Amino acid sequence: MTSVRLGFIGLGTVGCGTLTILRDNAALLAQRTGCHITVSVAAVRDLSRPRTCDTQGIRLVDDPIAVATAQDVDVVVELMGGTGLAVEVVRAAINAGKHVITANKALLAEHGNALLSLAETKGVMVAFEASVAGGIPIIKALKEGLSGNQINWVAGIINGTCNYMLTEMAKPGKDFAPVLKEAQRLGYAEAEPSFDIDGIDASHKLAILASVAFGVPLSRQGMLIEGITMVTAADIAWADNLGYKIKSLGIARRRASGIELRVQSALVPKSKLLANVDDVMNAVMVNGNAVGTTLYSGAGAGGMPTGSAVVADIVDVCIAMRSGQVTRPALGVPMNALAALPILPSSQIQTAYYLRLDVTDAPGVLAKISAELANEGISIEEMRQQPDSEKSAATLVLLTNVVEESAFMRALAKIAALTDLRSPVAWLRVEHLS
Ligand code: NAP
Ligand code: HSE
Repeated sequence: MTSVRLGFIGLGTVGCGTLTILRDNAALLAQRTGCHITVSVAAVRDLSRPRTCDTQGIRLVDDPIAVATAQDVDVVVELMGGTGLAVEVVRAAINAGKHVITANKALLAEHGNALLSLAETKGVMVAFEASVAGGIPIIKALKEGLSGNQINWVAGIINGTCNYMLTEMAKPGKDFAPVLKEAQRLGYAEAEPSFDIDGIDASHKLAILASVAFGVPLSRQGMLIEGITMVTAADIAWADNLGYKIKSLGIARRRASGIELRVQSALVPKSKLLANVDDVMNAVMVNGNAVGTTLYSGAGAGGMPTGSAVVADIVDVCIAMRSGQVTRPALGVPMNALAALPILPSSQIQTAYYLRLDVTDAPGVLAKISAELANEGISIEEMRQQPDSEKSAATLVLLTNVVEESAFMRALAKIAALTDLRSPVAWLRVEHLS
């Protein structure tokens, strides 16, 4: 049996989940890999902190670089997070000729191109299944199962915190602030919750998905990144009335002129499976030119689901070590063969829109609004109206056809300037996922 010695950096939520799976499934993993897998050493920040997993037989240290360069480590498993020390650690490990497994999406999104290029030069693997959608094997699905396809688009619920919050806010009396507090209490939110609610965590994951799907360098440059802070209970209720749910989505779409990359809150028809993925769950839809549309769903966070993805990478690295061959490039194509497809500016996004307008209830107001839309070639697909006779006001809710965002923005600016408006226009994109 080939001996594979692991060095862990981080024994927190994911580190301990991974260690537990390695211990619980040791016999099965030996059978699958033909390797005897051991953990030699683990780095943590606080050596005195009690661990939620069994660390017997593992040398505990507080210096991550020592793990990255240790003589008795073949594979470094980076589960500490962050983009400061983590990049030094991963670089040191690669330079020391060690394979690296990481769940760190921020690290990959920001430093992935340089680290993966270095790894290719050194002939070592960098695997990162756990970095997107936790336990869902979406990187493998794109890189392996769908490798015969040109991927047309990927759309996913890739932040569990946002999905949990939007699901809760659909319930009566649940407002943004207390729901966020509850997400933090449940351990879903990142240490800095703005990473979740402002779409940053999802943007890191989308950069990775787009890179693997389209064979382009890892980048967030030009990506539209919006969070969920603009979503109100009123919009969730109106969306429901119209047959939609509001979801926080990461969307990567290949167009003839480039790639649309966006993290946004959008209305999704309830008839789509994605609309029915609730609470903290994740799901990713992938459309390929041969397979059509496929859907992958499951737990997007947590120690054991995320550990499941880390262990899958450990299995791959073990098999590669036993055969003496690195099987596939990290992003599906070699780094020097990545395509330079441009990221399209947000003005060129093509999608449909939802508008909610509080207006004076007077003849001709709707005509003025529809005229501004028509002037930009935008048609109204659906409309609802709720008058409030006491205030001589009305709420108008409109859904448009699919148009280019620049046209919508021009119409929106004109509508926003109408004197009949009683409050700022609320608007969101509508995704039909086809
Ligand atoms: P965590 O619970 O905060 O654990 C981080 C671990 O790293 C802790 O054991 C900590 O040590 C150790 N650490 C941090 N800084 C260190 C330093 N300077 N030196 C030595 N050890 C250090 O984090 P996590 O939730 O497991 O996340 C780990 C990674 O997985 C992150 O990149 C995260 O984005 C990613 N991820 C997490 C999830 C999830 O569900 N949590 C899902 C997907 C991906 P102490 O324990 O002593 O503080
Ligand atoms: N904060 C992240 C989420 C954790 O809510 O999805 C998993 O990456």
